[in-house]
Amino acid sequence: MVRTTPWDRFAKECPTFYIATHTRWRWNEEDTFWRSGERTVQFIWDHVYPRLARRFLAIEIGVGIGRLAVPMAQRFVQVKVVDHSRVMLEQLRLRCARFGRPNITAFLDTAAWDTEPADFIYSALTFQHISELATIEMYVAKIARCLRGVAFLQFDTRPRSSFERWREQLPEQWMPRTWRMGMRRIRRDADVLRTLFARHHLPILEELNPDSALHVFILGAPTPAVPASP
Ligand SMILES: C[S@@+](CC[C@H](N)C(=O)[O-])C[C@H]1O[C@@H](n2cnc3c(N)ncnc32)[C@H](O)[C@@H]1O
Repeated sequence: MVRTTPWDRFAKECPTFYIATHTRWRWNEEDTFWRSGERTVQFIWDHVYPRLARRFLAIEIGVGIGRLAVPMAQRFVQVKVVDHSRVMLEQLRLRCARFGRPNITAFLDTAAWDTEPADFIYSALTFQHISELATIEMYVAKIARCLRGVAFLQFDTRPRSSFERWREQLPEQWMPRTWRMGMRRIRRDADVLRTLFARHHLPILEELNPDSALHVFILGAPTPAVPASP
């Protein structure tokens, strides 16, 4: 049976709105959406470039329709992108053709995307939508298996407020779109994440914006290296 996810529906309805809600005041202008991706990639790049030894393979986890992968693909020979929504990946393929990015290869989350050594692995606006910590740990374990360079992973680590707890009790149909299941941002305890990275031997090289909605962990390759999966 083909699996469907809330993100399949979001991708059919209006992917630019659901992916980058911060551009929603002009969400129907695709230009704003793609420009926000270029700015984010430049921000990522400024923080990781000095630490990158090679620029052969990058991997993005939670690619959406390629807001970040399209500009990132100019900086690497190959970019593998992962998502758990088939519809997002179909839409991504259309954008890759439109923007001329043949070096982007798309993988469903269940496929073997972690079999080759990666120079760079990044993820933004994705882990905050994953409710199960076990799923995040699965990604961290796979990152540890294939990372040979640097990873840039963004999480929402704002402390959970009483408002946050209250709104989780509301019936879905009363909630605005951005609060609903799948779309809602899930806040993580930063210490739990630090323990998770340590369990998989991924050293934290730097943290940006700690305890915020845009908390970034810059990680190095595992020490000692974890053997790549067959
Ligand atoms: C807000 S969008 C961000 C897309 C892209 N990173 C960007 O910044 O433009 C979140 C993406 O994560 C994907 N996603 C959600 N849960 C996921 C999971 N468990 N594994 C992989 N991707 C997931 C969604 O399908 C969606 O494409």
